Amino acid sequence: MTIHTIKKLRGSQGLSEAVALLRAGECVGLPTETVYGLAALADSDHAVRRIFDAKGRPADHPLIVHLPSVEHLAFWASDIPASVWVLAETFWPGPLTLLLRKNRQRSDVVTGGRDTVAVRVPSHPLFLEVLTRLDQALAAPSANLYRQLSPTTADQVVAGLDGRIPAVLDGGPSEFGLESTILDLVADRPAILRSGPVGRDVLEKALGETILLPGSHDVAVPGNVAAHYQPKTPMRTVSKQDLISMDIGEMGVIVWSRDTAAELPGSASPCVRDLSEDPVEFGRALYQTLAELDRMELKQLLVEMPPQTEAWAAINDRLRRASGTF
Ligand code: TXA
Ligand code: MG
Repeated sequence: MTIHTIKKLRGSQGLSEAVALLRAGECVGLPTETVYGLAALADSDHAVRRIFDAKGRPADHPLIVHLPSVEHLAFWASDIPASVWVLAETFWPGPLTLLLRKNRQRSDVVTGGRDTVAVRVPSHPLFLEVLTRLDQALAAPSANLYRQLSPTTADQVVAGLDGRIPAVLDGGPSEFGLESTILDLVADRPAILRSGPVGRDVLEKALGETILLPGSHDVAVPGNVAAHYQPKTPMRTVSKQDLISMDIGEMGVIVWSRDTAAELPGSASPCVRDLSEDPVEFGRALYQTLAELDRMELKQLLVEMPPQTEAWAAINDRLRRASGTF
């Protein structure tokens, strides 16, 4: 039996313990509505460095700063454009991260040396409660080792970061299962740096202007690299036609379409997972399913190519990264 050294915190006592650890400058795994985060006081260089150490993340990869409320924005950002207030009103608390000019008085350890800062108000009730009690911001990247899959349950945090952090607060499975949308408001025109649960269509509607997509701009985002969000088993996407004519022995397979699931030989195998035709449900299950199949030490993971539509944009983005074909 594996003995884990990460303490799994639950209930109101667990919440108080998480707050106490964070106040003392420790990093703690916390549930968000997107994926689990590895949180520490954003305004403490010492605490923030602990995050970089625990993740094995290079110091120039900036972290997202999670705010208790929009009132904390001016502490972290400067030159805040008017559009921020519209977006905050519409999408916060929630899975939208805004890239803004950093307030020069704040340290640049959390922003990886940059003069910009990525901020969001998360909607998970436990994360919000922790933020409210601390009354200050928490830096939190996804709670996984550098370049690996983001965890969507407390157990996945334990599996990935055991021995590296003292505790994780269990808030159940993440609602969205994919990281937040990142919108750059520093560039001349708003640009999506990372697709996520908040789609381009709803952002354009709220802003009343068109938004550039990833790849159509040249702003370097450290997360926007190939070989990110990756399982250890080689993974690739394949069309339905190719999939149903393949010999899938020793392969892990993820399908979205009911037809494909029905036509796939060997579809009753535990290595074959039929997720959902609904992109929200598919996204919620994706990382956990990839993590489960990854543990089975299969030769390869095959994912049925999803529709190339806006509703599947974040999923297609993560599948490209997971397969290293970004
Ligand atoms: O849903 C999420 O956003 C989760 C939860 C925990 O909130 N967090 C998350 O953090 O995905 P992380 O660190 O795994 O990804 C944050 C991304 C990285 O690709 C990072 O490079 C980018 O945001 N980022 C953060 N601050 C930035 C900045 N100042 N300039 C450019 N990119 C930035
Ligand atoms: Mg991450």
